[in-house]
Amino acid sequence: MAEVSVSDAPAVPAGKFMVDSYLDWARGEGVPIHEDFGLDLLAVETRRWSRFGVDGAVIHVKGRGDCMTVFVLDLPPGAKTNPQRHIFEAAFYVLSGAGSAVVDGHGGERHQFEWGPHSVFAPPLNTRYQLFNASGSEPARVAVSCNLPAVLNLFHSEKFVFDNPATFPEREGVQKHFMGEGDFIPVRPGKHMWETNFLPDASALELKGWGARGAGASHIQLILADGVLHSHISAMPVGTYKKAHRHPPDVHIYIISGEGYSLLWYEGDRDLKRVDWRPGWVFAPPDMMFHQHFNAGAEPVRYIAFTQGSVRYPVTEHMRRVYAKVDVDVKKGGNQIEYADQDPRIHRMFVAELAKKGVAVRMNEFAAA
Ligand SMILES: [Fe+2]
Repeated sequence: MAEVSVSDAPAVPAGKFMVDSYLDWARGEGVPIHEDFGLDLLAVETRRWSRFGVDGAVIHVKGRGDCMTVFVLDLPPGAKTNPQRHIFEAAFYVLSGAGSAVVDGHGGERHQFEWGPHSVFAPPLNTRYQLFNASGSEPARVAVSCNLPAVLNLFHSEKFVFDNPATFPEREGVQKHFMGEGDFIPVRPGKHMWETNFLPDASALELKGWGARGAGASHIQLILADGVLHSHISAMPVGTYKKAHRHPPDVHIYIISGEGYSLLWYEGDRDLKRVDWRPGWVFAPPDMMFHQHFNAGAEPVRYIAFTQGSVRYPVTEHMRRVYAKVDVDVKKGGNQIEYADQDPRIHRMFVAELAKKGVAVRMNEFAAA
């Protein structure tokens, strides 16, 4: 009996096997799809994106996971986007420039606000919104973190996603959430929340101490438009680095200010992957890959992260475990490596890095080392 080789197998009709509805959609949008471990979003090429009415690109970093993707949109001076409305959550982070946004609430009320560098905002689910660059001279570039892959792969219907009459007025919050104000909701270090729809400047929001995460670490969770998207802002003082930890993929980290690097490795790996970053960079640690962030510059580092599964609505058991155990020692069943247990090369590399820049190490935990 003759063997049947793979090449003799009948071709499977398109759309019948191993479909990725999100990826098919992205490839059909006609804009560049940039793929890398991490990318400088201030430098990526964009092209006309008819959906948005401005130039744009899709960003796929290595650890983007199943749920999240990133768009970059360029608004030249005087430009505006086409109005948008969709059944996926989107959080905007302004990389450069300034402008305004209009969001039409489900009850007919119109919200308008002015955004600038490092602004963060999230139109409530399926509200109609539009961005404007009112400047006569300065372009603006924004990054959009969204859970379109999760939604499109679940429903595989563009009509459901982009032309859906469903309303969610309960997500719109109070008027002040569109005006740059918010509500602080205390929980515990590492879980305190700031609830809003519009944060004028993520580089200026007051953070709260989170000693368990590392030397001088501070942090706050954002709840945006009562959504399932997670966001947090973290900071590292000069001369410090955080503890290594791991979690599922999808967590896109944007550098707001400062410069440094991250080391990443899988449990048992001898080689450490290094990613150097500065403002404008985005990367996402791959699934359960340990990662550790280092401030290697003379200024404080601040970054903002987005993923699916907020502290309010974790969505998955996986994210519930992350929130419960992300700062718990791996020796106690958690996902964090304490300083005392880390690979000695890690601290040596940091000391050498700061020596090159003439910056003092301020890791008290290693004062006797
Ligand atoms: Fe992380």
